[in-house]
Amino acid sequence: MKIASIILAAGQSKRMVSDLPKVVHKLNGKALIQYAIAAAGQAATEMPVIVVGNGAELVREEAGDKATFAVQAERLGTAHAVLAAEAAVDREADLVLITSADMPLLTAETLTAVVDAQKHNTGPLTLLTVHSRNPRGFGRILRSAAGAVTAIVEDAQATPEQLAIDELNVGVYCVESAWLWPALRQIKLSPKGEYYLTDIVEVAVKSGQKVNALVMDDEEEALGINNRIHLAEAERIVRRRINEGWMLAGVSMLDPNLVYIEEGVKIGKDTTLLPGTSLKGSTIIGERCTLGPNTIVISSQIGNEVEIGPALIEKAIIEDGVDMTTFCHLRSGAHLGKGVHMGNFGEVKDSYLAPGTKMGHFSYIGNAQIGANVNIGAGTITCNYDGVHKNPTEIGENTFIGSDTMLVAPLKIGKNAKTGAGAVVTHDVADGEIVAGVPARPMQKKEKSSG
Ligand code: UD1
Ligand code: CA
Repeated sequence: MKIASIILAAGQSKRMVSDLPKVVHKLNGKALIQYAIAAAGQAATEMPVIVVGNGAELVREEAGDKATFAVQAERLGTAHAVLAAEAAVDREADLVLITSADMPLLTAETLTAVVDAQKHNTGPLTLLTVHSRNPRGFGRILRSAAGAVTAIVEDAQATPEQLAIDELNVGVYCVESAWLWPALRQIKLSPKGEYYLTDIVEVAVKSGQKVNALVMDDEEEALGINNRIHLAEAERIVRRRINEGWMLAGVSMLDPNLVYIEEGVKIGKDTTLLPGTSLKGSTIIGERCTLGPNTIVISSQIGNEVEIGPALIEKAIIEDGVDMTTFCHLRSGAHLGKGVHMGNFGEVKDSYLAPGTKMGHFSYIGNAQIGANVNIGAGTITCNYDGVHKNPTEIGENTFIGSDTMLVAPLKIGKNAKTGAGAVVTHDVADGEIVAGVPARPMQKKEKSSG
């Protein structure tokens, strides 16, 4: 069976009070429209058609090649919006699934259940409803004494008795394609000057067709985003779903309300996340790590038994056993080898620190390759930028860089070398050599007396 899908996204979203279309607003780091595309994409067999308003370039950009588009030039209501998609929907489709882009918590399973219900339905349409005491402006489901669905009445038009009805229209429909298009054309303008898709129920009922309703049980899934308060509520729900998943997979959180994990992230068991930890993008974290409080990790790889205090880690690699005490910043291309120690206020960019190297306090290391077991004294800086180019620094293993050393790149320092405190190193330093001063000069080496 061919199942097409339409995602309505052309509304003006006035209630968001934003220059951006509502559906590009982010929920846990991902645009609302992406949730709708993923769910509809799984429930249907064809690529979703998104109905956008005139000039909704941002929505197209966000959706990319995961959908096709239809333009609703004038915002004349949800029925008018579906009709705008007619030409873009596969003519061969048997069923058309209709959802809106502002219901990001609806799962693919729920949409699939609506499609399945319609597959077995003798009438032309199945709609999704939910029982809730919190109507949030949703349409109310009217049923006959025998329980058959007879109409949907919009909140603005409902009588006080109708407003008391607790069965609500979720806004998801699965409709027989051959019946849908002519039925939409029979919908009349509502008193508010819009063509309401909800009136399709009456079109069916008037022509003697039965309307099927699938009642969902998870009220939370039916949360629609009409303003930023709803968006924050959705954040809380998504956060809870994700964090509960990780806790059940062996990750500890002191306060799961204050841990923010995006969808693509992976975390090993027995890792502990302290409050304010935010894990984004394609981040992967190993086992037995402790992160936080207030650590932000963006698309980085972290090994096992890593300890990170408050920090910002962006596109970096951190190997097993690294410990970073507090307020460190790893920027793109930072790579800390096994057991590296970083202390207060260190920054590393585009550099490799080999295993066992220690960088205790207030240092900047950029465009550098640093050997194993190097001691980087407090306040050391790789002066990597000459105003035009980024220049490299190389430091050999076991070298001791004195506090406040300025390493003026391009520069090579050998193994087992030493720089004095406050040295400004402008020339390469040989293996075992000791340099000090401004600019740094070799110190006389004391010969070991043999005897
Ligand atoms: C709609 C339903 C309501 C249901 C609720 C559930 C109608 C008339 N009402 O109300 O019964 O309980 O959803 O969420 O359908 N849109 C367009 N073009 C338009 C108008 C709207 O594309 O001309 C899109 C919007 O961008 C949105 C969706 O359709 O994604 C729903 O529109 P919205 O204005 O949010 O309708 P609700 O008031 O939420
Ligand atoms: Ca809505």
